[in-house]
Formats: sequence, structure tokens, C-alpha cells
Amino acid sequence: MSGSHFCGGSLINKEWVVSAAHCFSSTNPNGLTVYLGRQTQQGSNPNEVSRSLDRIVLHPNYDSDTSDNDIAMLRLSSPVQFSNFIRPVCLAASGSVFNNGTDSWVTGWGNIGEGVALPFPETLQEVEVPVVGNRQCNCLNGAGTITENMICAGLLAGGKDSCQGDSGGPMVNKQQTVWVQSGVVSFGFGCARPELPGVYSRVSRYQSWIGSQIQSDPPGFVTFSSPGADGDSSHTCPGLPPPPPPSPDVTTPAPTESPSADAPVCGRAALNTRPAGNGSVVAGSWPWMVSIQWNGVHVCGGSLLNEEILLSSADCFDSSLNISGWTVLVGPQPQKNGPDAFLFSLAVANITLSNATSSSNIAVLQLESSVELSDYVQSLCMDLTDQRAFSVGSTCWVTGWGDRQNNGDLVLTEMETTLVDCENAASTGSICTTDMNIQQGDVGGPLVCKSDQSWFQAGIIMGVPQRSLTRAQNILTFSKPSTFSAFLRETVVDLPSPLTLTTAAPMTSTVQTTDYDDDIDSIADNAPPGSLSLSFLLFMISAFVSLCW
Ligand code: ARG
Repeated sequence: MSGSHFCGGSLINKEWVVSAAHCFSSTNPNGLTVYLGRQTQQGSNPNEVSRSLDRIVLHPNYDSDTSDNDIAMLRLSSPVQFSNFIRPVCLAASGSVFNNGTDSWVTGWGNIGEGVALPFPETLQEVEVPVVGNRQCNCLNGAGTITENMICAGLLAGGKDSCQGDSGGPMVNKQQTVWVQSGVVSFGFGCARPELPGVYSRVSRYQSWIGSQIQSDPPGFVTFSSPGADGDSSHTCPGLPPPPPPSPDVTTPAPTESPSADAPVCGRAALNTRPAGNGSVVAGSWPWMVSIQWNGVHVCGGSLLNEEILLSSADCFDSSLNISGWTVLVGPQPQKNGPDAFLFSLAVANITLSNATSSSNIAVLQLESSVELSDYVQSLCMDLTDQRAFSVGSTCWVTGWGDRQNNGDLVLTEMETTLVDCENAASTGSICTTDMNIQQGDVGGPLVCKSDQSWFQAGIIMGVPQRSLTRAQNILTFSKPSTFSAFLRETVVDLPSPLTLTTAAPMTSTVQTTDYDDDIDSIADNAPPGSLSLSFLLFMISAFVSLCW
């Protein structure tokens, strides 16, 4: 800024740089310049290229008090050409594992000691530091300061660390031949002090957020895995929840080694305690349901696929694809109906329609920012490979804000139904049910069925059914999400997977339970804030997240 260095960053593709949110006091990109291929801050840099910025995106959940989610993305005014001096780094994919002691490198033009500026000609510096596990780092820095969105590195003896001016720069780890960015320089108490490791934003926690900001030329996400068990898992101190019990079998892989142990899970509805019946619903029963509204008026339903993407019908957007008129309301409030009945109201960043010619089309909406998952807000699982094969006779549900009372109130209602044979030949890609009173306001919403404790989207309401006058009993037809699998994989990128009980690893009989939804809640409720309760639970029940496709 105005010719002075203030923060570092890392190039992740031809036009995006990752940095720290605390480096930016606003999202105004004017007056900032990014230098690439630079070695020294003074003198000439023959391999240097510079760009102004056209966008600064701070993480929507960045908290300047706690430094949680201290990550930002900068879009260059135009793409850069790669050279031997300018190349993108790989990013740690969701579920990467960095055990205590993992060798890491941090680079920057920051201070070389507390209050000691880098001397002329200010050449880029590098430091090698081992990862300090989150449990130990929390004990050293003060229990509660280190969230699961952070990763630490440093020497217990002190003497090596990043420092002021290094912020936003990368911490990288070499895996075979590639360098994978695990952290973004964020904060520390002083610099290089003994027993106070530096704290970095944990890049692997942001795969879906980073991916969602980038429309083309996706960055390289690589799963980093540390071999063996993580010594940090047994570290403890007062104020920290106890470590998980020792593994029952040394050959059992630790749950943190499973590919996506820290990825969000889909299809959970902790508050869905239904006795069968039709009518208005208990808040939180269908936590993926969203109301899509045009200028404040409900138009269609939709289902959350992850924290920032939802699925609906393309028909809903016939009137307008102009994103500024649309809002999405998410998360039913307990005991409320009508327009105040939601927890979040979000702007739409992008609407993408599928372009099938032989069927109606679906719409994928990208939200302007991501929603926080809770018992009231969850994503719905997608079965893009038809592996679940919901069979004729299964009980499934349709939910929506269709006006069945015809009094204009916005009330989410649920309808139980049974899957039936589609009868008609043109039914590949369709799933059919017995008749229900589906209204215009339901369009875009899901047909959901439960499989192995998780709720899946079995169909999409594409339009209001045409009533047949000749048949006594109507059959309703829904499009199967699998019909649009290629489109969905491309536009959604990050689809969470259902929780499944592991079958590969041995389990202790004492902790194996079938009704683990309840365990999740009770353990999470008893855990102190900021605890590692979910990973702890995952360990306890030896559950892991399996990829659907
Ligand atoms: N917040 C500092 C910055 O703005 C980075 C501090 C890193 N400190 C540490 N001890 N590792 O540059």
C-alpha cells in the first residue's frame, strides 16, 4: 500500500491470492498492489510482475476478537503468466492431517525479531518450524485460544517463528514433489518466544469457501496426510476436554486420518422427531429447507447442499435471473411462522441453470455468504450415483411452503408419501410417489427419504403436477438428482457426505451404537465451547465420513 509492504500472500491460481483477513481494514481494493516474483523489497527485481486488485473477499465468519477464520482472498485485476519465479501453491484439501512435528516452512518479509525490521535490501526470508498439535498449542497459548480453524507451528525452545509483517503469507509442507499450503500467518504472542508457537489459519478448513469464490481455473487442492498416529491426541492440560480414549487396536486408523474427518456432514436432522402425520412442522425437522423469495415474496422451495449452495428448479427463475431481486431464507426459527420465521436471510451471488434438453432443468444457487450449520440449518445428502436405490414402497416426505390452507400464510408443511412405480416408459431419471397436494410454492423443494440414519434428496419438485382427469389416483413424478450428476458435481464441487459407521476398522463393542444421532447431541451439549467434541465423537464411535462418489 502506497509503496510499502504490509502483508504477505500466496498465489493459488492465475488470478487469486490467499492472505489473512486481519491485513485488510476494508474490502476496498483501490490503491493496493500485489507483487509476484519479487525477492527483495529494495532494489531491482528482474522477475517481478505486479497487479492491482479488483476484489478483496474477507471470510464471512472472520472474528477480529478471536482471530478465528483469519483468511482473505484477493482477485488480481488480470491473470498473471506463470514463470520459474511465479507459480501457484497447492492448497491442503479438507480432511488433510498434519500431525504434531510435521516439518513446515514459512516465508515472508516480516520482522526478524520482536520489533526488529528486516534489514536492507529486505530479502524474502524462510524459516523451518514443526507443527505443534492443536491440543498442545491450546495448552501453551491458553485453552480456548486455538480453534479447529487454526494450526500452530514453532519450537518449544523458541528462536524460530514468523513475526509482524509476515501475516497473510503461507506456511507450506512438502508432500512427495508438491508444496501444499497448510496455513496462513495469523497471530502469535510476541515472536519466537519459548513455548508460544505461532498461529496460522488452517487452510484445509476452507476448501469449500475458497472454491466457491473462484469461477474458473480451480486451485489445486491436495490431501496432505501425516503417517502414523498423532502424538498430540493424548496431550492434555487443565481447561482442555480430556483426550479421546486410547485406540482399542493399534492397527485401527485414528479417525483424524480418515479422508474427511473434519468435513461437514449432510442429512442430519437432530430435531426431526416425527410421529407420522401431515401438517405443519416442528422447527428444525427439515433443516435443509430454504425459502427462495423475489422482492420479499416466497416463490419457491429449495434444499441446502452445503453451507453456501442450494438446489431448486429452473422454472422458479423464469421470471428473472437478475440476482439482485432474489433472497434466500434459511433455518426455521423455533415456534415462529411467517416472514420472521427464519434465522438467516442471504443474498444470491449466482444462479446456474442446467441445460438438459430432454427434461426440465434444475437451478443451483450460490449464496453471497455461507450459513452457519446448526440443528436448524443442515445440508441434505445427494445420492448422485443412485447407490441408495430408494425402492417402491419406501416412505418419503415432501416439504414446502405451498399454500395448502389458501390463507396466504408462509407455513412450512410436510407430506408423507410412498414411492411407487413410475409406470410410464419415459421415466428414467424420474422417481414417483403417490398423490399429494403440491402447490406452486413447493416447486424447487425436495422429496426426501431416510437411508442409514441420513436424509437424502430422492427427487426435485420440478413443477406443479398436471392433474389427470381420467385416472382415479395420480402418480407424482419428480426428477432424480442423479440425472443432473455431471452438472451438480461441476457447479457444487463440495458435496458433504453422510456419516456412516465404519465397517473397515475394528470397533469396540462398548461404544458402538446404532442411534448415534443422539450421542452427537449429548456429547456436543456437554462439551465446553470451542472444544474438539465432534472429532472426539468421531473417534468414540469410530465413525467416519465416506465419500459417496
Ligand atoms: N499478526 C502478525 C502480522 O500482522 C503476524 C504475527 C505472527 N506472529 C507469530 N509469532 N508467529 O504480521
